[in-house]
Amino acid sequence: MASNNTGLERTMDESYFKDEKEHKEHHLNRLVSAAKEIFERNKRAVRIVDLATGPNSFNIDIVDGLEREDIDYEFVLSDISPVHFSIGYENLKKANPKALKNIRCVLMDSCDMKTPLTEIPMWSGNGHPKEMWPIAKVLKDPKYAFLKTCTERPSFSDDTFDMIIGQLPYGSINTGPYQRAIKESVRILRSGGYHIVSEFQVEILANVSTRNDRSLAGAKRRVVTDIMSTLENMLVPIESYNMVYKYKESVTIDPTQAIQNGDIVRYSVLVHKKI
Ligand SMILES: C[S@@+](CC[C@H](N)C(=O)[O-])C[C@H]1O[C@@H](n2cnc3c(N)ncnc32)[C@H](O)[C@@H]1O
Repeated sequence: MASNNTGLERTMDESYFKDEKEHKEHHLNRLVSAAKEIFERNKRAVRIVDLATGPNSFNIDIVDGLEREDIDYEFVLSDISPVHFSIGYENLKKANPKALKNIRCVLMDSCDMKTPLTEIPMWSGNGHPKEMWPIAKVLKDPKYAFLKTCTERPSFSDDTFDMIIGQLPYGSINTGPYQRAIKESVRILRSGGYHIVSEFQVEILANVSTRNDRSLAGAKRRVVTDIMSTLENMLVPIESYNMVYKYKESVTIDPTQAIQNGDIVRYSVLVHKKI
C-alpha cells in the first residue's frame, strides 16, 4: 500500500498467472474494457498512444478487440526510430488494412514529446544508434512511407490522450532515463485516463559466470519495481498482472544479454489511472 500527497489511500491489486495465454487475454481484456469505459463516458473516439511501439504485434489484437466492442478510437503509434517500427506497422497493415484509417504513426522521443525530432537514430539492433539521419531523409525513403504523418513535425500537448499503452515502453529506452519518459506520459494523459504498460525484470540470476559486466548490470536493474514506484508517485495504482517464468533461450548464450537461459523473469502489466 502506498499513499500520495493527495492524502488518498492507494492500493495495487496484484494477481499472478501461470499460463502465458491467459495472461495475454487478461491484458487485452483490461485494455479493451478501459477503452470501453472511456468511450461510454465521453461519447467520442478514445485517443490511445502506444509508446516505443517497435515491432509490436499485440496492436493487432488490440485493434481487433476495440472493433469487436464497437469502440471508436484514434490510435497513435510512436517510436524514436522507424526501423523496428516499420515491422509492427506492416504486420498491422496486413492483418487489418481497414484499421489504418484510425492509425497515425509518429516519430517521437518518449523522453521529450514536446519537441519534434530533427534527427532520427536508425538503429536496427538493441545496441546504440548506428547512424543519425535528418528527418527529411527518413521521410523521403520509400521504406518509411508509412511515416507520412510525420511531416507535420508532431508534438504532444498536455492532456492529449485517454490511454497511454506500451509493451516495454520504459525498460527499452536507450536515449535517456526512463523516469523522464514516465513524466512525459503523465503530462500527455488526460484526467480519467488509463496508463497500461507491460515491463519485465530478472528476479533470480541463473548463472553469474556466463555474464560479462554489462549483462550483469542489466540483469540487476529492477525495472518493474522501479517503474512501479515512479508511477505510484504520479498516478493512482489500480492493478498489476504478473507472470513469473523461467527464461528459455535456445541459442548459445550471448554474454552481453541481460536476460539469459534459466533466469527467473517477472513480466508485469501495470494499470494506473490519472485522477
Ligand atoms: C524492444 S522494442 C520495445 C518493444 C515493442 N513495444 C514491442 O512490443 O515489440 C524497443 C523499441 O523502443 C524504441 N525506443 C528506444 N528508445 C526510445 C525513445 N527514447 N523513444 C521512443 N522509442 C524508443 C526503439 O526504437 C525500439 O523500436
